Amino acid sequence: MKNSIIRTIGPANIAFIKYWGQRESKEVLPNNDSFSMNLSECYTAIECEVVPDPSVQELFIKDYKESRFIKSTGTALEKTIHFYNRVRRRLSSNESFGFRIRSANSFPKKSGIASSASFFSALTLAFTTAFGAELSEAELSIIARLSGSGSACRSIPDGFCWWHQGADGETSYAESIAPVSYWKLADIVLLTTYGEKKTGSDGGHVNAGTSNLYPSRIAELPKRTADIRAAFENRDFTKFGALTEEDAISMHAVMMTQQPPLYYWSGKTVELIKKTIALRASGIEAYFTIDAGENMHIICLQKDEEKIADYFKKQPEVLDLIINHPAAGARVL
Ligand code: PMV
Repeated sequence: MKNSIIRTIGPANIAFIKYWGQRESKEVLPNNDSFSMNLSECYTAIECEVVPDPSVQELFIKDYKESRFIKSTGTALEKTIHFYNRVRRRLSSNESFGFRIRSANSFPKKSGIASSASFFSALTLAFTTAFGAELSEAELSIIARLSGSGSACRSIPDGFCWWHQGADGETSYAESIAPVSYWKLADIVLLTTYGEKKTGSDGGHVNAGTSNLYPSRIAELPKRTADIRAAFENRDFTKFGALTEEDAISMHAVMMTQQPPLYYWSGKTVELIKKTIALRASGIEAYFTIDAGENMHIICLQKDEEKIADYFKKQPEVLDLIINHPAAGARVL
């Protein structure tokens, strides 16, 4: 294999119906369908230098607002090597290559903005391209799911993406249910911290079943999922926003009651929840959702984004904010 450089980009995504808990952890099979939107301003850009010597396995990461790449030696590198081996096995390839990856994030990692989804969706395209594989979007989505960050499978297709839980590993993948242009929604990420969370979602999914609220979450989901799909199809933002909020709270109730409990929120998150509800009471349609981290996502219509952003910029809990629109999926540049 000759030296080459492959450049890819992968968006983070925000889920309206969340994925939490797995029925099978090795294959990363969820217990429910989930539904998300790719984010235009939160993405990982990867430059993958492919080298003939397979013993070269290097990863350099440039964090949000940093000017230089730092060599990774820890878990991120281990997960990258593990993923390389998994992709190679999946493609039944006899080839092997070394890699030197430079990964740059447009947003803070490990803080509830799906940095593993953006990283692994971009890496899926980099590795499969390096192996010379021409794959369908469903197959790429399956490979991204096998990275361990299941939600990465939703960052492969464009726009608004539906992850079918599927019957098995071959039928569990995401597909686009509407293009970027379908609905002028915005996700305003409110950064309350630049710090990294202590427990990643991979360490949390496995314990979801220890929460006594988990069976009721799973039982409620088919109805909520059907209702949000209908609200999406009718572009009924009031229903859509309310269901998005309801699902986030349902997931966090499980997180907080599983063993060991996971409290991703900080006091600032709680203040911002109250402020979002108060903003709504004043007639402005803003709804919150939260992933595995304390930073908050405000879902609104683009026509309202400026006034909502102006309001949150003035709040002492908010260090910075990032306004996102729906975006394309991961791609080779
Ligand atoms: O895909 P993971 O293992 O990074 O888990 C993501 C889980 C949440 O972000 C909390 C919810 C979701 O569906 O995105």
